[in-house]
Amino acid sequence: MIESDRVHKILYGGDYNPEQWPEETWEEDMRLLALAHIDVVTLNVFSWATLQPDDDVYDFEKLDKIMDLVKKHGLKVCLATSTGAHPAWMARKHPDILRTEFSGMKRKFGCRHNSCPNSPTYQKYAVALASKLAERYKDCDNIVAWHISNEYGGVCYCENCERHFRDWLKDKYMTIDEVNRVWDTAFWGHTFYDFEDIVAPNVLSEHFDPSHTTFQGISLDYRRCNSDSILNCYRLEFDAIHTITPDIPITTNLMGAYQDLDYQKWASYMDFISWDNYPANDSPIEETAFKHDLMRGLKQGKPFALMEQTPSVTNWLPYNSLKRPGVMRLWSYQAVAHGADTIMFFQMKRSIGACEKYHGAVIDHVGHENTRVFREVAELGAELTKIGDLTLGARTEAKAAIVFDWDNWWATDYSAGPSIYLNYFDEVMNYYKAFHNLNIPVDLISVEDDLSGYAFVVAPLLYMVKSGYDEKVRQFVKNGGRFLTTFFSGYVDEHDLVTTGGYPGKLRDILGIWVEEEDALPKDVANSFTYEGASYPATVICDLLHTEGAEALSFYEKDFYAGMPTLTCNLFGKGYAYYVATRSNAEFYQTFIEEICAEASIEPIIKTPTCVEVTKRSNANGTFLFFLNHDGKKHDIILNHAGTDILTDVSYEKGGTLPLSAKGVAILRI
Ligand code: GLA
Ligand code: ZN
Repeated sequence: MIESDRVHKILYGGDYNPEQWPEETWEEDMRLLALAHIDVVTLNVFSWATLQPDDDVYDFEKLDKIMDLVKKHGLKVCLATSTGAHPAWMARKHPDILRTEFSGMKRKFGCRHNSCPNSPTYQKYAVALASKLAERYKDCDNIVAWHISNEYGGVCYCENCERHFRDWLKDKYMTIDEVNRVWDTAFWGHTFYDFEDIVAPNVLSEHFDPSHTTFQGISLDYRRCNSDSILNCYRLEFDAIHTITPDIPITTNLMGAYQDLDYQKWASYMDFISWDNYPANDSPIEETAFKHDLMRGLKQGKPFALMEQTPSVTNWLPYNSLKRPGVMRLWSYQAVAHGADTIMFFQMKRSIGACEKYHGAVIDHVGHENTRVFREVAELGAELTKIGDLTLGARTEAKAAIVFDWDNWWATDYSAGPSIYLNYFDEVMNYYKAFHNLNIPVDLISVEDDLSGYAFVVAPLLYMVKSGYDEKVRQFVKNGGRFLTTFFSGYVDEHDLVTTGGYPGKLRDILGIWVEEEDALPKDVANSFTYEGASYPATVICDLLHTEGAEALSFYEKDFYAGMPTLTCNLFGKGYAYYVATRSNAEFYQTFIEEICAEASIEPIIKTPTCVEVTKRSNANGTFLFFLNHDGKKHDIILNHAGTDILTDVSYEKGGTLPLSAKGVAILRI
């Protein structure tokens, strides 16, 4: 679908479910999709019930017809395996496929995305179906990708999963003594004598509610195990398909910053990343940008597919506002600006029944092309045809990176103390937003990624420092890198066991500080600090720290710890390690990040008002600057490069003015 020799432009299309409609309507759909310049359809996402009506019975007649239909009309296909929703007969005959919820409640048949990942029945039948599909359609030369299941997610607590958890622990820790050590079970007399003693941590055992556990170590391992179990389902289908069609890339649609699955671990088993972008009505633009960058980072900058977005409305928010005129186009290009090589929708045609009948689609219930949404889709389609392959495969070059780590996300969520206002995602976003508003490209990287290509690495709330990570950071800074971390960092190892000898644990020498205590402030209470003449709030957590070689850059101004440092900088080898001891506001983050970037010779692409987002991608065809005006009014941008807008063919001089209309987009090839 991307980086495939069957693809020569930004693919444009999305989920199409003709099986929900009488066959007589299909030709008219084809006419409308062609009119909208749609060139790819995702088929067969939820057809398991039709494809396999009983244990040993398969029926591909309808799918054959659909495959023939779309082929005849020149459409490419992203072919799904349909394993995102199991058939009713399977639940009746093989109840082991049903999940058990956090409450301990065993589900019945219903909804979707709810098969138990450790059910032998589910695994057997999912793999069988994937293999049969691959065998049957392997010679279809219009298949551009396999789409396994759909939006994998959730957690199961059934007895199969519990048994699997014990095996997973045996593999990981070998002995029950080691399990007792890493979970610190001497606390509250929790010693396990045998793996059989171990049960799933939910409300029946260790939890008060989903995020409150008495044993962080147990709950963390369960999350890891659950993510691995679901990944295993994906991998079983992947392997089956890959043996039959080794040249067709395989993916599954991810969900951006989705907490239950450690996508960084998943990524190496995906040929390319694809994801579904559904911002809420009030999602800030930088949050969407962040998610695109997170997805791009999963495969070290390789372009990704935008697998789904709505052309107009969703139907599952409390109120589902329309995307205003131009916004669908703007957000589509925002995806491309951050690394997408496809623009796809859920969905091609609005269904008439069940819970998504009011979700937006290219073809509305009215059934013709004379709608605002259809017109906007068709106009964007025409533009993409014009762009052709120009931007395909283009990379983003970033000298700065932000560390995002699922284990840290889980661990900080589970932490009992110091504050319920600690929020990993928000803390990372605070820093991301500063880079975003400065138009400084930034990669979102995992703790496994190499740091040597970066000049500046920010690791907000690096609470958990896994074995070896401190050494990676140490070498990075020694060699001249700039590293920044925050309060509540370096406290624990990968088992959530505290590193004794003073916070921030193994980062202490690099940062040149010792954090003696941390004060958690009530919601509306703030301390303050002054940095370069400006006053900023200190909220949520205030670390009480001592410098041990670092220079203090500013100090608390209130309370009994007035005069203790809020910001420090430590010269370490050839580099610098910065520490931000509290949470502050957007103005502070922007000032501080801008300053460190300047010292590290990291330049903004261009300075613009914050409502105008600018990104840069390069490939063999050149370098492309994406200008995205998220504002409702026009902005004129004074250019620091000459270039030609590939959308309009208008050329601009260096120092010239690029007019960006409200919600307007320009893509300058420089
Ligand atoms: C998800 C799913 C789709 C559809 C959309 C609706 O992304 O993958 O099947 O339910 O949500 O927003
Ligand atoms: Zn289960």
